Amino acid sequence: MAIERTFSIIKPDATRRNLTGAINAKIEAAGLRIIAQRRTKWKQADARKFYAVHAKRPFYKDLVKFMTSGPIVMQVLEGNNAIAKYREIMGATNPANADAGTIRKDFAESIEANSVHGSDSAENAKKEIKLCFKAAEIVG
Ligand code: CMP
Repeated sequence: MAIERTFSIIKPDATRRNLTGAINAKIEAAGLRIIAQRRTKWKQADARKFYAVHAKRPFYKDLVKFMTSGPIVMQVLEGNNAIAKYREIMGATNPANADAGTIRKDFAESIEANSVHGSDSAENAKKEIKLCFKAAEIVG
């Protein structure tokens, strides 16, 4: 298995309910290392840029509103097969379809307020990490 890096966001619904530590505990228990982490609050332009790939989707406007509604925690995670591993422990996008014990099953409020984001491919992981972190902020 290859050591990979993936990009994660702990979303406003989770920071609002003080779940950053609980989510980080699940990340670390899965063997992923948090090698960069920054709490911030996105402006509309930041959210629009990050989710530009969804610009034509009907949920885009609400998604931008939600992602700018409170603090988020941006992270870089590293480990064996990190991209697939993080997607596995996040669970399905819609918490109603997520497996027991996953972050979204345990914590998500809805398909929109689904507590976490994780990159869906190696290409997007690279893009998302570059967009949100400087190289010097990532300490593996
Ligand atoms: P995320 O993994 O961050 O990628 C896009 C986000 O859009 C998704 O998680 C959800 O928060 C949000 N979203 C809202 N509605 C939908 C939908 N119908 N399908 C997919 N994603 C949605």
